[in-house]
Amino acid sequence: MPINTTRILTPLFEELRGERVLVRPYREDDAAALYEAVAESREHIRPWLPFADEHQTVEESLAVIRHFISNWLVREEMTVALFDAQTGQYAGGSGLHPRNWEIGFFEIGYWVRKSAEGKGYISEAVKLLTDYAFASLQANRVMIRCDARNNRSAAVPRRLGFVEEALLRNDSIATDGTIRSTLVFSLTPDDPRWP
Ligand SMILES: CC(C)(COP(=O)(O)OP(=O)(O)OC[C@H]1O[C@@H](n2cnc3c(N)ncnc32)[C@H](O)[C@@H]1OP(=O)(O)O)[C@@H](O)C(=O)NCCC(=O)NCCS
Repeated sequence: MPINTTRILTPLFEELRGERVLVRPYREDDAAALYEAVAESREHIRPWLPFADEHQTVEESLAVIRHFISNWLVREEMTVALFDAQTGQYAGGSGLHPRNWEIGFFEIGYWVRKSAEGKGYISEAVKLLTDYAFASLQANRVMIRCDARNNRSAAVPRRLGFVEEALLRNDSIATDGTIRSTLVFSLTPDDPRWP
């Protein structure tokens, strides 16, 4: 299979720093922190994301991180770790996921550990990743999607002024196997940012 050298050689950040959050790609030595964060958050993640019952050991978290690192290297998925900017404590995960490199279309996903919810880490991380996508990756579209029942998740793009584009009714399967509807939000370069 031919490799996409342009995409793979696209420079990416080493870290993005805000007032409260530090965003950077995963490293192997994050495995214990990732394991602990998921272990304390399983009930809170389970309704919305598929990995609540993964990370049963630190070794398993290390394997997941190696997968993130390999995807980062080839720009397949840019999964990132989030840390408290002051204390360095691991707070959760996010990602800038390419959906179409040719047109500069990226999707942002996120989760925060239970003990770090309600502190604004995710809203700030989404701002940093979105600004980076427009400024450095020539993005034309940054999208966020969530289960229509996930009010805390939908509050993130709403808080940041993303345009609410659609409610896709009964379009996919939730983690519990039921049919879910999906909210779609996006920003384009011409939209006002961070009202
Ligand atoms: C969805 C999820 C990431 C949202 O986390 P969150 O902590 O509510 O989001 P933020 O980090 O942006 O924090 C916003 C909260 O911090 C508060 N906050 C404090 N300081 C803030 C600041 N400087 N900026 C923004 N918000 C701030 C806000 O008031 C808000 O709290 P409220 O909901 O009580 O009003 C989290 O609930 C989660 O991980 N859920 C499980 C996984 C999941 O659903 N992921 C998304 C799948 S689509």
